Amino acid sequence: MTSLSVGTATKLRPATLADVVAMEVLMAPFVASGDLLPRSNYDLCRHIKEYVVAETPDGSLVGTGSLKVYSTALAEIAGLAVRDDQQGRGVGKALVEALLVDARALGLNEVFGLTRKPLFFMRLGFRVVEKEQFPLKVWADCARCPRQHACDEVAVALTL
Ligand SMILES: CC(C)(COP(=O)(O)OP(=O)(O)OC[C@H]1O[C@@H](n2cnc3c(N)ncnc32)[C@H](O)[C@@H]1OP(=O)(O)O)[C@@H](O)C(=O)NCCC(=O)NCCS
Repeated sequence: MTSLSVGTATKLRPATLADVVAMEVLMAPFVASGDLLPRSNYDLCRHIKEYVVAETPDGSLVGTGSLKVYSTALAEIAGLAVRDDQQGRGVGKALVEALLVDARALGLNEVFGLTRKPLFFMRLGFRVVEKEQFPLKVWADCARCPRQHACDEVAVALTL
């Protein structure tokens, strides 16, 4: 993964297993608010290579996000979270841009996201799309979502 700088201080890098506990702590408030799906420690470890993290010079993890590949053409940007006190400083944008660099390097045609923050993604060039256009396997995660019967997420997609 290409490392990107966020401002002058916060740096992006691929996640390692040593980050897993901090990633759980970072995601917890957003899982509680319903903005993120819960992920187990096992799930994070199994898929650690999909994740990028943002780290401040003192070693604090302030952001994370992942690229989840479904096919030779399609991947999802998932698990995107920026610590509350670091939001609005370009960290989320830098995380998505780093994941898009990875997506292009892999040869993907399209990335999508399921989100309650479509405007954030639209600022980055994504468009709002119909959820129904994505293949069924994309919806496996919905089975463990507490809001599965009252989904308020919007699908956004970007053609690469
Ligand atoms: C959504 C989230 C990742 C954005 O991260 P961030 O670091 O605050 O975003 P950035 O500072 O990089 O913002 C990039 C651009 O998006 C805009 N933006 C950020 N959050 C936004 C929101 N909720 N609504 C509308 N625009 C938003 C910013 O104003 C900025 O626009 P600009 O480039 O024109 O200045 C962060 O708010 C977050 O972690 N939220 C909780 C978890 C969540 O909802 N994750 C997404 C699930 S898919």
